Amino acid sequence: MKDFAGKILFITGGASGAGFGQAKVFSEAGCKVVIADIRQDHLDEAMAYFRDKKAEVHAIKLDITDRKAYAAAADEVEEVFGSSPQMLFNTAGVNTFGPAEASTFEDFDWVIGVDLGGVINGMVTFVPRMIKAAKGGYIATTSSMSGFMAASGCTPYSVAKAGVNSLMECYYQALKPYGIGVSCLCPGGINSNIAEATFTRPKHLANTGYRVNKKTIEFEGKANAQGMDPVELAHILKKGIENEQLFIIPAPDPEKMLRFSLERVINYATPEGMKKQEELMKKRMEEMRKRMGGKNPFEGAAEAGWGKAREDLTWVKEHRGPF
Ligand code: NAI
Repeated sequence: MKDFAGKILFITGGASGAGFGQAKVFSEAGCKVVIADIRQDHLDEAMAYFRDKKAEVHAIKLDITDRKAYAAAADEVEEVFGSSPQMLFNTAGVNTFGPAEASTFEDFDWVIGVDLGGVINGMVTFVPRMIKAAKGGYIATTSSMSGFMAASGCTPYSVAKAGVNSLMECYYQALKPYGIGVSCLCPGGINSNIAEATFTRPKHLANTGYRVNKKTIEFEGKANAQGMDPVELAHILKKGIENEQLFIIPAPDPEKMLRFSLERVINYATPEGMKKQEELMKKRMEEMRKRMGGKNPFEGAAEAGWGKAREDLTWVKEHRGPF
């Protein structure tokens, strides 16, 4: 897809971080944008920005795990803009860090519910409407590099994002005959507010096995500030959509990164490979330290308690770092 003028674009998580960056860039490209987000304060701040720009943007407060509310939001778009969206960006997401073995059911239910379940809800809500409208369209989901990596320090997140990668590839094949393109954006770090994700965690899923407090949130916020600018990332997404690329990897050498990841799976499938992989992991950690001038890439994490198990789970071994 190359022409964005006049297209209706629905963005989940569109009021903050990566989603807000997408809303800015695609609104400038001529889209009528709907930003859907669970946080009213994020929606209010984003709408203040768009009002100043006199952009055609509509805000909807939505929890993407609520299927009824999702259907009502889709109806609202048709009422406001006169048609279902031709474009959907599934961008909303949450994360939380801690050892896999400390994870509770609620850690899995919350993170997988939003990061994978929320994307599924977006697809099941909008895909039939897009097909019936017979105008083609485009769907882009923000996944993560974690989807290729099986990072044990954020197991529910990694599982959800791996699921999203597969989901998008399935829909990519399925929607081709309808003229609906699909992309899956897999960033590394983004300068966003995701460290505050815990504030949106529902009460009935509050029970976590991880250490999450003011210090861990502050640490993660500082680490995220080193990430990519959301507007820059949205421009990369736009280029990927123009090229109709299924996977969009905003890294200096995406091929090298993906080869590491695939090589890992191949190695894990043989006894010799298992040993080789252990050596490779050590070597890569050393290389990473060297690149960072001998610094621990997770410096400050231990002091903050970030990535650790909840204090009372004394049976969890002390971890060096989250991964
Ligand atoms: P962010 O926290 O700045 O933005 C996410 C937005 O989603 C927030 O406004 C939040 O209120 C909203 N949200 C959370 N749960 C929701 C729900 N149930 N329903 C509706 N809205 C909900 O975070 P960021 O980083 O911009 O996240 C966007 C996407 O980027 C996520 O899918 C995340 O997994 C992904 N990502 C983030 C990375 C990072 O380093 N921050 C790295 C790689 C991927």
